[in-house]
Amino acid sequence: MSTQLNGIKLMVEEHVLIKRMLKVLRNASYMAIQTGGINYDDFAEMIDFVRSYADRHHHGKEELLLFNEMVAHGGPAAEKLVTHGMLVEHDLGRLHMAELEKALKAHQEGDLESIVDIVANAVSYTHLLHRHIDKEDGVVYPFAERSLDAALLSEIDKKCEAFEKEADVKGIQAHFTLVLEKLESKYIMK
Ligand SMILES: [Fe+2]
Ligand SMILES: [Fe+2]
Repeated sequence: MSTQLNGIKLMVEEHVLIKRMLKVLRNASYMAIQTGGINYDDFAEMIDFVRSYADRHHHGKEELLLFNEMVAHGGPAAEKLVTHGMLVEHDLGRLHMAELEKALKAHQEGDLESIVDIVANAVSYTHLLHRHIDKEDGVVYPFAERSLDAALLSEIDKKCEAFEKEADVKGIQAHFTLVLEKLESKYIMK
């Protein structure tokens, strides 16, 4: 008999992977400041990881499978925490990525001053996500575990498992783990 996946535990594990990419973003920004040069392909891969893995894969599960249930069944405190906190921060992260992409394009087209906007948005995203993840690990997820009943939590686990299997067929988790490791080998000093 296979054991049931624990959706919240999985989300905490995904945070560890996402935080590793935040370190890559920070180091790549520092390297850009030091050298004045930008590796556009690497930044494009970082943005793709953020959008496809951190946002679509991870925030996708949060928004579609957990936060929606917290809003519906967790009471007013949960609703406030999710709609005025977590969802707003997910959106702010998307804005940073759009601005980062815009600045990269401008830089590539010869506007060298855009390096300021590249670094500002990349690093601001890392600050935002570190705070966001700490809040989820320390407050939001424990709140969900306390306030939702066992049957609902088990339902969320089942939906997370199905979500994971579907992504696994497309190779999402394996692909982005490889992308992370490749960028770490370039930007993280051992
Ligand atoms: Fe989140
Ligand atoms: Fe999260």
